[in-house]
Amino acid sequence: MVRTLPGMHVGQHPPPSHLLAHVSDTQFLGGRRPLYDRVDTDRLLSQAMLQLERYGSRLDAMIFTGDIADLGEPDAYRRVRDIVEPTAALLGAEVIWVMGNHDERSAFRTELLRSPPTTEPVDRVVMLNGLRVVSLDTSVPGYHHGRLDDAQLDWLAGVLSRPAPHGTLLAMHHPPLPTPMPVMQVIELLEQDRLADVVRGTDVRAVLGGHLHYSSTGTFAGVPVSVAASTCYTVDTTAPVRRHAGWNGAQAMNLVSVHPDQVVHTVAPLGAFEPVDVDPDGLVGIVPDLTSEQRIERISRRDAW
Ligand SMILES: [Fe+2]
Ligand SMILES: [Fe+2]
Repeated sequence: MVRTLPGMHVGQHPPPSHLLAHVSDTQFLGGRRPLYDRVDTDRLLSQAMLQLERYGSRLDAMIFTGDIADLGEPDAYRRVRDIVEPTAALLGAEVIWVMGNHDERSAFRTELLRSPPTTEPVDRVVMLNGLRVVSLDTSVPGYHHGRLDDAQLDWLAGVLSRPAPHGTLLAMHHPPLPTPMPVMQVIELLEQDRLADVVRGTDVRAVLGGHLHYSSTGTFAGVPVSVAASTCYTVDTTAPVRRHAGWNGAQAMNLVSVHPDQVVHTVAPLGAFEPVDVDPDGLVGIVPDLTSEQRIERISRRDAW
């Protein structure tokens, strides 16, 4: 069932060296309680895993950019882990967990990382066949805003002092981007200029973030930033000014394809929607078997579909 991407790759750009799933803000509660008495967090994360299995591509990693649990309860972490790990194993993916403001470091460590329950920041480096993923813990115990302390910034500068063969992705919960939502401005990453000084001019190719509960993109210190929406609830970005509102709908994750010179983030909405059969003749299935000239005539011609 698991296929590799190169056989399906026919475009002019070189195929990706790495393919990742970027998932964020699962926010499970203990005892399988629905979030805000409404959101079935377990079902939505299972839907995400189902879709990744249906997609069927080998993945280098699944990166979870924080707020894994809503209140840091151990059984919430265990349920997330138990839903994610079988799919990750099936697809060959490393699982990279990143701390968020709703997480608790000790339970995060024991249940997700299976390591002792210490409370220092959870900063890690994972190498994926030459692609370096640095996960940064931007959480501040007891608060929702984010911050990186001097020791973390020094550590990051040390890590980035030597480039990695395929460059570096930074995975962090609080994205270093402006947000139009006033409440998110209050709980943003503080002192972002200090992080910019560390990142600028290094081999960091993209920053992956969460926290906002809506998809967003921008740049920071010359580096593209991509925020994955949430698998729990979505923030209504067109809510009236001075209101902060969520939806139990429009949840999404991102697929991240790392090409030699580009990093591409593709939003994958979560859910079982009414299908529209846009390829009734199954033309897409034959694309890899056609020559480039045949593709133009069989696929690109306007009267072919
Ligand atoms: Fe969140
Ligand atoms: Fe958050």
